[in-house]
Amino acid sequence: MKNTVAIILAAGEGTRFNSVTPKVLHKVLGKMIIESVAEIVDGFDKKIIVVGHKSELVKKSISVQNVVFVEQIKQLGSGDAVKQTEKILKNFTGDLVVLSGDVPLLKKKTVGKLVSVHKKEKAVATVLTCETENPSHYGRIVRNSDGTVKAIVEAKDASDEIKKIKEINSGIYVFSSKELFSALHNIKNDNSKGEYYLTDVMSILSRQDKKIIAYKTDDFREIMGINNRYELALAENYMREKVLENLMHSGVTVVNPDTVYVEETVEIEKDVTIMPSTIIKGRTKIRSGCVIGPFSYVDSCTVGKNVEIRASFVYGAEIAEDVQIGPFSHIRKETKIDKKARIGNFSEIKKSTIGENTKVSHLSYIGDSILGKNINIGAGTITCNYDGKNKHKTEIGDGSFVGSNTNLVAPVKIGKGVLIAAGSTITHNVPDNKLAIARQRQVIKKRQG
Ligand code: UD1
Ligand code: CA
Repeated sequence: MKNTVAIILAAGEGTRFNSVTPKVLHKVLGKMIIESVAEIVDGFDKKIIVVGHKSELVKKSISVQNVVFVEQIKQLGSGDAVKQTEKILKNFTGDLVVLSGDVPLLKKKTVGKLVSVHKKEKAVATVLTCETENPSHYGRIVRNSDGTVKAIVEAKDASDEIKKIKEINSGIYVFSSKELFSALHNIKNDNSKGEYYLTDVMSILSRQDKKIIAYKTDDFREIMGINNRYELALAENYMREKVLENLMHSGVTVVNPDTVYVEETVEIEKDVTIMPSTIIKGRTKIRSGCVIGPFSYVDSCTVGKNVEIRASFVYGAEIAEDVQIGPFSHIRKETKIDKKARIGNFSEIKKSTIGENTKVSHLSYIGDSILGKNINIGAGTITCNYDGKNKHKTEIGDGSFVGSNTNLVAPVKIGKGVLIAAGSTITHNVPDNKLAIARQRQVIKKRQG
């Protein structure tokens, strides 16, 4: 946005969170509050974030580019926070968009609208407001008879009469830079919190007959501030519902959406069904025809067409089409599963490649392994991949059949078309097309006593 600078206030501790982590670093649907706010103003010429409480931690958590950080050493209030930017903006004569670091659901479009109304009306200050039945702790908008804004009064300092006002301050504003800083020099901290309120500039400017207007949005949820973990949960729930609604409109079936959690970063094609009590996170991509859940957790995976993932934990894996996973499988990162493979109940796969049409159907652990095509892994088979210090590889060739309850002591290489007898402990390589038995012969003895 031309000749417009964005300032995000994020120096506060967030006392009401009662947390060692600064408030703005808590996450809504997997994304840090401050990241969402910074993304709203990504396209601005200049973005300034005012940091203070645990500033180093906040700074290094922000991945949005080209941000200028300004320190507010003591958290003396939102007005004082904006004042800290004066030095670096002393030659700036354009408009300032001020955002609260704790209002993450705000839409880019709304900010754009706020700025254009401000410019069109040639206002000195424009505040984003909303009417709500429960204005609780929000600042109240006091209007003049002509509809312009006279003042913003904080809930704690408001008379009973003013408390009845239902129009609230979102904490999002556009100011003419010069007018704002000159008014900021006149704010005082003689209020119930003993803070320098940014909101006090409104009555100062209004007394100077400067034009202050309000732009009202009808979506309260968009402007909700997150001041405690209850509000965090409310915001997350709202976002979660929005993401699911968008998915449903795009052709994804979500059964019992109240129990489903999908992050915004997830991509899901049409004709996927998400069953109840399922969590899908990160940069996961799911192709059409899949059934995910019930009771599944999928994080940062690519999932091909027509895959089923039932009651399983799957993360950082690449899964090709027509694969069946679960119930109760654990697929760990850096695993690749080729088409038509089947990973069954109580099987764990770690950092391994599973070939096309290979079956690991029951009670197995496959770690650091490369399995070819058309292999059958019998129930209870495990790779012994760890010697206490290092991890070792297991390789199994196409078409082999590993009998139940086999131990494969790595490093070990099993050829193609091999048959391993049930109950074997395999410690040496097995060449192609051989039978390996590595267990004691059964003996039958006379029963004593
Ligand atoms: C503020 C507004 C209130 C509005 C509400 C909307 C003031 C005085 N009040 O109240 O009218 O209805 O937001 O959500 O502004 N901050 C600093 N340094 C400080 C104090 C605060 O950077 O010294 C930052 C916080 O990190 C936060 C923002 O300013 O991101 C707002 O502060 P907060 O304490 O949350 O204000 P509210 O009480 O919510
Ligand atoms: Ca707040």
